[in-house]
Amino acid sequence: MALERTLSIIKPDAVAKNVVGEIYSRFEKAGLKIVACKMKHLSRREAEGFYAVHRERPFFNALVEFMISGPVSIQVLEGEGAILKNRELMGATNPKDAAPGTIRADFADSIDANAVHGSDAAETAAQEIAYFFASTEIFSR
Ligand code: PPS
Repeated sequence: MALERTLSIIKPDAVAKNVVGEIYSRFEKAGLKIVACKMKHLSRREAEGFYAVHRERPFFNALVEFMISGPVSIQVLEGEGAILKNRELMGATNPKDAAPGTIRADFADSIDANAVHGSDAAETAAQEIAYFFASTEIFSR
């Protein structure tokens, strides 16, 4: 499996629940390395830009409002097969469908407030990482 990087966001609901460290621990126990991280309260413009691909979807405004409702923790995870591994740790988008033991099953309340974001493919991972981090802010070793 190839060494990959993926973008992860711990969303406002999970930050408010004080489970950032618990989620970081899950990443590390699964073999993912946190090679960049920052906390940020996104502006409306930043959230709209990040989710621009979803702007025609009916939940777009709700998603943006939620993502600017409080601070988020944004990190780059690195490891073998990091993109899929992170998606497996996260669980299904709707926590009702998320497998037991996944982050969303354990910490998410609803499809609107679903605790974490993770890039879904290599191309989007590269775009999303560049959206939030300069290459000088990422530390592989
Ligand atoms: S995914 O995870 O990208 O495959 O899921 P998708 O269904 O394409 O959803 C894209 C993002 O929109 C969020 N979402 C919603 N937000 C609010 N309300 C509703 N109903 C809703 N449905 C989906 C979903 O969590 C995805 O956000 P991210 O941050 O990528 O997880």
